[in-house]
Amino acid sequence: MQFNFDKINDRRNANSSKWQVKEHELPMWVADMDIQTAPAIIEAMHKDVDRGIFGYQYVPDEYYRAISSWYKKEHNFEPDLDWLVFSNGVMPSIGSILRHLTDLGDNVLLQEPNYNSFYNAITSNGRHIVNSELEYQYGKYSINWKDLEEKLSDPQTTAMIVCNPHNPAGIIWDKETLTKIGKLANKHDVLIISDEIHGDITMPGYDYVPFASLDAEVTQNSISLASPSKTFNLAILHAATLFIPNAKLRQKVEHAISVDGINSPGIMSMDASIAAYTQGHEWLTELRQYIQKNREYVEDFAKKNIPDIKVLPAQATYLAWIDCSKLTDKSDEFNQFLRDKTGLYLAEGTKYRGNGNQFLRMNLATPKSNVEDAMQRLAKGITEYKA
Ligand SMILES: Cc1ncc(COP(=O)(O)O)c(C=O)c1O
Repeated sequence: MQFNFDKINDRRNANSSKWQVKEHELPMWVADMDIQTAPAIIEAMHKDVDRGIFGYQYVPDEYYRAISSWYKKEHNFEPDLDWLVFSNGVMPSIGSILRHLTDLGDNVLLQEPNYNSFYNAITSNGRHIVNSELEYQYGKYSINWKDLEEKLSDPQTTAMIVCNPHNPAGIIWDKETLTKIGKLANKHDVLIISDEIHGDITMPGYDYVPFASLDAEVTQNSISLASPSKTFNLAILHAATLFIPNAKLRQKVEHAISVDGINSPGIMSMDASIAAYTQGHEWLTELRQYIQKNREYVEDFAKKNIPDIKVLPAQATYLAWIDCSKLTDKSDEFNQFLRDKTGLYLAEGTKYRGNGNQFLRMNLATPKSNVEDAMQRLAKGITEYKA
C-alpha cells in the first residue's frame, strides 16, 4: 500500500459535523471519511493557499477534460465534453432542477429506502414524494416493476430520482435495469435524475453504470450528477458535475442553476477537482481495497459473533447496511440505545424510510481500528439490548 489509511486523524476539535460527539463516542453515521484525501489534491490546494488570492473564478475547459478522461479510465465511458455542466453540489442541483423543471404539486418518484436528503429536497420545494418501494426478500432488494410503472404513468409524476449506486444499500443497478427504468420514464414523459455521487466507490472488481452511458433513446430525458465529494472526501468544496446529453434540457438546467446562483466555482473546487480527476486513480484503487477489507471484517465479525444481525453484501459505497429485523422495527430507538450504552453512533435506518426501520447504516470509510472498535461495541450493545 502506497497510502496510509490506518492513520487516525483527530477531528474532534475541527467543527466536524460527524465528530461533534462526547469524548468516549465513536461516530460512524454521516457519509464522510475519516481518511485524508489524496496527497495530489492537498498539494493543489496548498498552491492556491500560498498564492493567497481568492477572487472570482471561471470553469476552465481543463476541468471538463479531467472529468471526461476520469470517466473513460474509471468507468470505460467517455462523456461528450458538451454534456458537462459544473454546479455547487449534488443536492443544491437536485433542488434547483425540481424547482425549475417540475411544477408545484408534481409527484417525484423514488424508491424507498433511499438517501434521506431527497425527501426534504422534494417536500420543501412543494412537490410530493411518490414511493415505489424496493421489495426486500432473503436479504436482497428488488424493483416491483408493475408498481413502478403504475406510479410513473400517473400524469402528476414528472420526475424520478434514481440513486445510482444506491445509498444506503450499496446496490449497483445493472445496465438492463437502468435501461428498463429509462424506457418506462420516457414512455410516461418522466425526467430521470440519476444521483451518481457514490459511483466511484465500488468494491474491487465492480463498476457502476453511468446513466448517461446508456443508449441515446433513454438518456435524452436524463440528468446525471457526479462529484468528487464522496470519492475523495471533498464535501466542503461544493463541486459537482451534471451530465446532460440533451442540449435543450441542458440549456434549461444551466438557466436553473444560474438563477439559483449555484454555478460559480471557487478556486479550490477547480484545482482540487482537476488534481483529483487527473492524479487520483491510484489513491482510489487503494481506498476501494481498504474499504473492501473493512467490509469483509464487519461481515465476518457479525457472522461469527452477532448472529442476530445480517450485514447485507454490497457492491458499492463505503456504507454497510445492517439488517436488525430480528431485534427491532424501531431502529431510531435501537440506535439511541446503542449510543447511550456503548458510545457507538450509527445512522438509524428509519430516516431512509421504507424498511429502514429495521436497519442501521455504518460508515466504513475509517481506519480499521475504528471498525474493530465499532464491532466490539455493537456486540456488547446488542447483548445488553437483549438482556
Ligand atoms: C446519494 C447522495 N447524494 C448526495 C449527497 C450529498 O451531495 P452534496 O454534498 O454534493 O450535496 C450524498 C451525501 O451523503 C448522498 O449520499
